Amino acid sequence: MKEFPKTRLLYEGKAKKIWETDKPELLISEFKDSLTAFNGEKRSSEEGKGALNNMISSALFEYLQKRGVPTHFVKMIDEKHMLHKRAEVIPIEVIVRNIATGSLSRNLGIENGKVLPFALVEFDYKNDELGDPKLNDQHCLILGLVKGRDELEYIRYMARRINTLLQRFYSELALKLVDFKLEFGRDEYDNIILIDELSPDNFRLWDAKTNEKMDKDRFREGIGGVTEAYREVLDRIKNREGEER
Ligand SMILES: Nc1ncnc2c1ncn2[C@@H]1O[C@H](COP(=O)(O)OP(=O)(O)OP(=O)(O)O)[C@@H](O)[C@H]1O
Ligand SMILES: [Mg+2]
Repeated sequence: MKEFPKTRLLYEGKAKKIWETDKPELLISEFKDSLTAFNGEKRSSEEGKGALNNMISSALFEYLQKRGVPTHFVKMIDEKHMLHKRAEVIPIEVIVRNIATGSLSRNLGIENGKVLPFALVEFDYKNDELGDPKLNDQHCLILGLVKGRDELEYIRYMARRINTLLQRFYSELALKLVDFKLEFGRDEYDNIILIDELSPDNFRLWDAKTNEKMDKDRFREGIGGVTEAYREVLDRIKNREGEER
């Protein structure tokens, strides 16, 4: 940490503290142990969850970056801290779905667990006060969330590309990538980059053999064993890295 001092708290969210550093273009995410669901209505804390999310996110950012996906990731500093580029956050939650579950099943009556004929990319407005409502392309343009159709098309293209790469990654870990949420931002040169975190707080992962849930749904549904499941995901990632070497 001495190498990268946390100089000022920029933002404290539900899952992370974002710190400024002595370099204006670099920030530090400090991963918290707190768990929230249903727009902050359900809250708890699990010792070690923050570190697991940091380690899983760092491994995934590295995997994507090696395969040509521009991201904010610079390096993992220690168990709880990640160094990354500062970005202007695009307030759109980009949701990618491979298997129907959760709100998609509820809202449209699609059977839970049904494999979708193609990956569905959805946009939600990242706005807690409004309850993160769904957006279509026209909403994004009218609200000025993106600079134009090109940015929106690029974000959709990158989300699909990331999905393809992560589906392959997780299938090697005997995990099904059910759905996930991504965030994008603009770096100092106005490039669109993948930001935020890539953790089981934001990904639904089911065991390939048993369909056991290995993600934050364990907390949402009160199943328990949250950190144990996250640790299992990290262990499988580490085994894979071991085999790659
Ligand atoms: N590279 C980055 N530069 C600037 N802000 C970032 C970057 N990566 C992530 N963020 C923002 O930092 C915040 C992360 O905090 P956290 O995940 O705890 O927020 P949150 O409580 O989930 O709130 P939100 O619903 O806004 O995500 C998010 O608002 C996220 O958009
Ligand atoms: Mg968040």
